[in-house]
Amino acid sequence: MRKIAVAMAKGGVGKTTTAVNLAHGLAKLGRKVLLVDCDTQGQAAKFLGVNPDYGLYEFVIGKDETGKALYKKDTLYPCRNNFWLLAGGIKLVELKHWLGEKPRLERQTALAKTLVPKGSSLDYLIFDCAPGWDVLSVNILMAANEVLCPVALQGPSLEGLKTFFGYLMSAQRLNLGLQLKYILPTMFDQRTNHSFEILRQLRRLFRKQICDPIHYNVRLSEAPARGKTIFEYRASAVSAEDYNKLIWRIDNDGKK
Ligand SMILES: Nc1ncnc2c1ncn2[C@@H]1O[C@H](COP(=O)(O)OP(=O)(O)OP(=O)(O)O)[C@@H](O)[C@H]1O
Ligand SMILES: [Mg+2]
Repeated sequence: MRKIAVAMAKGGVGKTTTAVNLAHGLAKLGRKVLLVDCDTQGQAAKFLGVNPDYGLYEFVIGKDETGKALYKKDTLYPCRNNFWLLAGGIKLVELKHWLGEKPRLERQTALAKTLVPKGSSLDYLIFDCAPGWDVLSVNILMAANEVLCPVALQGPSLEGLKTFFGYLMSAQRLNLGLQLKYILPTMFDQRTNHSFEILRQLRRLFRKQICDPIHYNVRLSEAPARGKTIFEYRASAVSAEDYNKLIWRIDNDGKK
């Protein structure tokens, strides 16, 4: 099973958009995919137009708010063919408190084993990480073995990259199997020199990890409002083609 964290400390760079469309695209190829929303905003469910009763909080704690015991499998929401969601949302605040009360070493690694469903036939576990950096982010990077970083080709996008890679390196000291595998330029606007300039710098800095960019495309921002992935909303959009390229690359890497 491949475990990919879609992570970047900077907000609004396309993490959720990428995680949701990547997960659906892989599921459409016939892979079995679980998307784990690790954000208190709980956006992944909204992007997919679903409203699960349970999610990551119940998956870890093993019971609901009333104390009723739950099987882990009952917290996984089947949202499309071959595609399950472990929803995020505000209850993750409590999960972070729970983690915060653990002794220091355990605090960072407590979820590493729990986060990977046992005995499953899943091909991919995809984590949609929250912006910023906290105890939950560290735990996710203990469970993952690949990191995909979306970088928006807009605004001061290289700002904060160094800080984030500092975080990543500290996580790699605890999880030796964790690799920065993909740098995904997002919101590529061919009309601006700025987009090209950042892309050029990223290509120079990350020769191996750099992926073809995802264009800035208004269809991508319309699709979540309708609870659809780009493949459901506008399969002919340039961004659907961009995400398909990414999906093929990632899936092919697994066959090597
Ligand atoms: N390539 C794109 N073209 C146009 N709009 C995009 C693109 N990618 C993402 N968006 C839009 O930009 C906004 C931010 O995207 P998204 O929520 O995926 O970012 P995020 O990194 O997950 O944000 P956060 O850090 O808050 O979790 C959303 O409204 C989304 O629809
Ligand atoms: Mg997000």
